Amino acid sequence: MPSPVTYLDHAAATPLRPAVADLITEHLADPALTANPSSPHTLGRTARSVLDTSRRTVADLLGAHPAEVIFTSGGTEALWRAIVGVALAGQHRRLLVSPLCHSAVWSAVSYLALHHRVESHPIPLTPTGQWALSALTPDFLQSFDAIIGESLCSETSIAQPVADLCQLVTALGPVGQRPVTIIDPCAAVVSQPVDHATLPADIIALSAEKFGGLGGSGVLVVQSGTPLKPLGPSTHEWGLRPGTQSLLGARTLALALSELTTHRPQEVTRYQQLTHALRDLRDQLGVPASPWATPQSPSHITHWVLPRTTGQIITTQLDLRGVCAATGPACSSGAAQGSRALAALGLPDTATHRGLRFSFGHTSTLADITALQSALQDLTL
Ligand SMILES: Cc1ncc(COP(=O)(O)O)c(C=O)c1O
Repeated sequence: MPSPVTYLDHAAATPLRPAVADLITEHLADPALTANPSSPHTLGRTARSVLDTSRRTVADLLGAHPAEVIFTSGGTEALWRAIVGVALAGQHRRLLVSPLCHSAVWSAVSYLALHHRVESHPIPLTPTGQWALSALTPDFLQSFDAIIGESLCSETSIAQPVADLCQLVTALGPVGQRPVTIIDPCAAVVSQPVDHATLPADIIALSAEKFGGLGGSGVLVVQSGTPLKPLGPSTHEWGLRPGTQSLLGARTLALALSELTTHRPQEVTRYQQLTHALRDLRDQLGVPASPWATPQSPSHITHWVLPRTTGQIITTQLDLRGVCAATGPACSSGAAQGSRALAALGLPDTATHRGLRFSFGHTSTLADITALQSALQDLTL
């Protein structure tokens, strides 16, 4: 493997933010933080107060109440608890799901279909891949327990009108008398603020490794009153999750989110420059622009559909040349199957293997695009 590596797969996991790395060192060296936050003794209470402070920070940053914040082991667990919990608390056993959702959503939806006979229906898409909100009549929406969608598709970078969807659903009545909105802004949060004012969803899920926290930590924010069944006996996190919390996970997630909030405006400006440079490179290489709608605000994710080869061939070649990129959604980028999202966007089976994704993060610079350009030079795309 050539060194240094050019890393263009931040949507899968981005490096720790420097302040987070410092906090980890400090945390691990502090004997006062080794206790279980549920223990009633002095050190347990110290751990509990650190957990509570992290919860308050996350709540403030996301426009929620601390009692609405549930720490999890990542985005997948958060989405599972939300989707399965809402479906099992509902009466219709029907879910309306964005066809461009992450595989974490599909795994929960498939589990519900297999074990609980919960049906799922796709949110219709416009020809440019956006949710066709005009097709969602009040009666149609009311026939579902939950509406599930992503703010930004982590594969194709298609941004969805999530706030409009949430408002449409909220207008149907108070929570408990209408479907629950479950939104996955795991990818979007890197380039767009996520808080209750901008995203009035009943439930949101975040994964810390997407914005510079530790892998294996995440958060679920559930607005109070939302019907959500715990998955089994749950003694922690407001009765919604069993087992001891990760103090380090919660603490680093809170700090990473706060660092992201502070630095996002400058980082987004950089992503915009990098996106333009990548667009010039794409034109130079003769890769056609994708036909779907581009995000209104700049995104850190760029997706190409290769005209002549597969994403897997190119990511393997790039890897040998020291460039990390992805073929599809973060968690299945190593998988050889065609992309579910590209199929949903109407691409024929023969083209669903042709996706190639580059994603930026807080450490990305124009030098990454220069390195990519030379790595791609003699490859047939
Ligand atoms: C949009 C999106 N949602 C959910 C997840 C799952 O998060 P985690 O990897 O923390 O389980 C990912 C991970 O790539 C993602 O990109």
